[in-house]
Amino acid sequence: MSEDGIERDGLKPGDVVVVTGGGGGFGRAFAKRFARAGARIAVWELNPESGAETERQVKALGGEARFFRVDLSKASDIEAAARETLAVFGAPYCLVNNASVYPRGEVLDLSPEAWDLTFRVNLTAPFLVVKAFGPAMIEKKRGVVINISSGRALEGAPKGANYAASKAALLSLTKSLALEWAKHRIRVNAIIPGQSLTAMPLENTSEAAMHAKAAVENPLGRVGYPEDMAGLAMFLASSDAAYMTGQGVAMNGGAVLAP
Ligand SMILES: NC(=O)c1ccc[n+]([C@@H]2O[C@H](COP(=O)([O-])OP(=O)(O)OC[C@H]3O[C@@H](n4cnc5c(N)ncnc54)[C@H](O)[C@@H]3O)[C@@H](O)[C@H]2O)c1
Repeated sequence: MSEDGIERDGLKPGDVVVVTGGGGGFGRAFAKRFARAGARIAVWELNPESGAETERQVKALGGEARFFRVDLSKASDIEAAARETLAVFGAPYCLVNNASVYPRGEVLDLSPEAWDLTFRVNLTAPFLVVKAFGPAMIEKKRGVVINISSGRALEGAPKGANYAASKAALLSLTKSLALEWAKHRIRVNAIIPGQSLTAMPLENTSEAAMHAKAAVENPLGRVGYPEDMAGLAMFLASSDAAYMTGQGVAMNGGAVLAP
C-alpha cells in the first residue's frame, strides 16, 4: 500500500506475459525486458527460428520462457496456442499484441488478399487473443493488455492504407476494451512507435537511409530502438501506470512535432 492508501497493482515476479511476434525486433526486447523483471514469457511466433532464439536468449538471462509456434492469421492456431499456454503457465498477467504484417502497395495495387491478411494479423488476432485469455484474466481480477499500434495509425501511409487502417482500428479496439475491462481491473493501453530499427521498415528501406532521415527529420535526431519500446511496455505493465487505461502513448523522438 502506498502513502495515499491506494493499492496499485503491477507486474510481479512470476507473472506470465504473452508476447506475440516474440521473435521479432520489438517482441524479443519485450520478452527480455519482462523476463529481467522476473516474468515468465510465452513467446508466440510464426517463425520457428526466431521464436526459439528468443526463448534461448531469455533463458540465457536466467529467465523462464517457452516458444509456441502460432500463425496469428488462423483462429484455430490462436485457440490451440492459448489452450497450451494456459496449460503450461496458467493465466497471463500481461498480453502484448505485437505481431504484425505490412504488405505494401498503393490502394489501386493492393490485392483484397493482402488487405485481408493485414487485418487478420494486425487486428483480428489481437481481438481473438484477448478473447482467448479474457476469462482466465478476469477471474484473477488483474491484468494488462498492451497493443502495439503505429504512428501510421494517425498519419496514414502511402503504400500502406491497409497497415495504417489496421493500426488505427487497433487503437480504437484498445479504447473500447479498456472501457469494458476497467470493471475487471484489467488495463488496456497501446504503444504508438515511430520508425525504429527492426526488420519491418528494412523491408522497404536501408539502415543507412533510416539513420540519415532521422538525423535530419526527427527532433531527437535518431531512429527508435526496440529497447525504447520495451521501457514503455514495462512502465505500462507496472504499478506506476495503475491509473492509466485506454491510452495510446507515442514513443517516437517527437516525430510528430514541427521542426
Ligand atoms: N519497426 C518500426 O519502425 C515500427 C513502427 C511502428 C510500429 N511498429 C509495430 O511494432 C510491432 C513489432 O514490429 P517490429 O518492428 O518488431 O517488426 P518485426 O518484423 O521484427 O516483428 C514482427 C514479428 O511478427 C511476426 N509475425 C508476422 N506475422 C505473423 C503471424 N501470422 N503469426 C505470428 N507471428 C507473426 C514476425 O515473424 C515477426 O517476428 C508491429 O506491430 C509493428 O507494426 C513497428
